[in-house]
Amino acid sequence: MIKKLASHLGEYKRASILTPIFSALEAIMDVLLPLLMAFIIDEGISKGDMGAILRYGLLTFLVATIALLLGILAGHFAAEASSGFAGNLREAMYANIQNFSFSNIDKFSTAGLVTRMTTDVTNLQNAFQMIMRMCVRAPVHLIFALIMACIINVHLTGIFVVAIIFLVAVLAGIMIPTFKIFDRVFKSYDALNASVQENVTAIRVVKSFVRETFENEKYKKACEHLYQQFVRAESRLSFNNPAMLTAVYGCNLALSWFGAHYVLNGVITTGQLNALFGYVMNILMSLMMLSMAFVMLSMSAASAKRIVEVLDEKTDLLPAEKPVEQVKDGGIEFNHVTFKYKHGTGRPVLNDINFTIKPGETIGIIGGTGSAKSSLVQLIPRLYDVDTGSVKLGGVDVREYDMDVLRREVSMVLQKNVLFSGTILDNLRWGDENATEEECMRAAKLACADEFIERFPDKYNTWIEQGGSNVSGGQKQRLTIARALLRKPKVLILDDSTSAVDTATDAKIRRAFREEIPNTTKIIIAQRVSSVQDADRILVLDEGRIDGIGTHEELLATNKIYQEVYHSQTQGGGDFDKQGGEQ
Ligand SMILES: Nc1ncnc2c1ncn2[C@@H]1O[C@H](COP(=O)(O)OP(=O)(O)OP(=O)(O)O)[C@@H](O)[C@H]1O
Ligand SMILES: [Mg+2]
Repeated sequence: MIKKLASHLGEYKRASILTPIFSALEAIMDVLLPLLMAFIIDEGISKGDMGAILRYGLLTFLVATIALLLGILAGHFAAEASSGFAGNLREAMYANIQNFSFSNIDKFSTAGLVTRMTTDVTNLQNAFQMIMRMCVRAPVHLIFALIMACIINVHLTGIFVVAIIFLVAVLAGIMIPTFKIFDRVFKSYDALNASVQENVTAIRVVKSFVRETFENEKYKKACEHLYQQFVRAESRLSFNNPAMLTAVYGCNLALSWFGAHYVLNGVITTGQLNALFGYVMNILMSLMMLSMAFVMLSMSAASAKRIVEVLDEKTDLLPAEKPVEQVKDGGIEFNHVTFKYKHGTGRPVLNDINFTIKPGETIGIIGGTGSAKSSLVQLIPRLYDVDTGSVKLGGVDVREYDMDVLRREVSMVLQKNVLFSGTILDNLRWGDENATEEECMRAAKLACADEFIERFPDKYNTWIEQGGSNVSGGQKQRLTIARALLRKPKVLILDDSTSAVDTATDAKIRRAFREEIPNTTKIIIAQRVSSVQDADRILVLDEGRIDGIGTHEELLATNKIYQEVYHSQTQGGGDFDKQGGEQ
């Protein structure tokens, strides 16, 4: 994991190496200071030698200034390395997410991906900055201060060792259970984030179902739980400081007692005793810092794991070895296709599907909810790959095409479609970024979107809000159809794309398709018989199997499901109209 993360240091490797070097040097300079103070006392003050005081004073000043400069440099490079590293990680994650197949997307939730790219990366960035400085500075401090203390007096250093053992034992006793709590806290955070994301995006639904109070309660409970866990963790951590102070004062007491005897007996000098007091602080502070660094490390380990999961996720749509760059025609062939969702129930949703579509043909697909209509058509532009069998387009297996070429030629209006913030023209140009305004208008006309666009004051420059929230459901569908048409694809798939459009307009759109794009293969999924009855052939799906295929008349004569749907919609007062909706 560390290797994987380190590979994203990129151009910030230099800063990442310089930071610990400067931090270590800074620590060494720091350790020299108490020793110099000892010289000032012993050589200068005790002997009344003003020259020595000045000399050592100047040296102390110099060492302190160097330590300061080294500290500034270390801070600078630490900031550069950690924020650069975080930037690289975000870029790499974003780039990988763009390559995700639909199946990969099924695995991570949108909220989860957002948290991973924001909070988790920030956690790791802070931890990295801390580790580069603290994890080098603290041990160097600790070791050098101990060495210095040993040089001054080995016996008195024993006091330090006892204090260190005490502090390590207490810190470990506090930290280890706290880690476990923090681990739980972060899991609760995830759940909270997911629920916030879900509810804020669906705020309109929440309001229309008058669920505000319920949602508020739910959120309050989650927050309270988090609060309690945090208080538990932090109140344990609050024992750190008293433990540290006990160790420091204990050391000071012992040092004062034994040190005074040693000074009186002439074993050590006053200056050296003074230096030892300085080292007590140095050593115990380093231990404290190390323990904090461990907390940071354990907190960020979970984040690091979650980041690496995104980075490691490989798209499961393997690219073709020798990609075919040209789609001959819009003929489609399903050969004994079975398919199941990797993150679904484990049961196949499509079973032994066999049929062919001629180029330019219009195929209607009808079937109950969950009969796998969407699943079936998603295999054509390779949003998912088949498990067994094959799907061919223009006589070539879809897996052998260059992915971009395939998806350019197979234009699909997804059932759950979205518009993006931008003008109507911007949105239409998702279909073809070089389309002229005339081409966009023509596509809009084909999709019957021109009538309402013309009524907007800004016409084609009307601003669409994020997700298309300021246009109606039917308007949105027509815009997404126009967008798909601009591609001038060989295959056009409409997945329930006119469900919110009135039957008359629906019929007008289909007539336009027939007349204006006769050579494009058209696959129309619909719930209304009227939307498919004038298709060349209609495919009836039932629980992932083809129940019947034929013209409207043929199916009406032979297919039970089709008859049922037809009769329920014509007699049950549905919106079916006999002429297929045309007026
Ligand atoms: N991304 C997914 N992950 C797991 N299972 C899925 C996924 N999408 C659909 N399914 C399952 O596959 C089955 C077929 O779903 P599909 O969306 O193809 O039905 P559909 O015929 O298009 O239905 P509808 O008319 O409601 O759009 C359903 O049982 C559904 O639960
Ligand atoms: Mg569907």
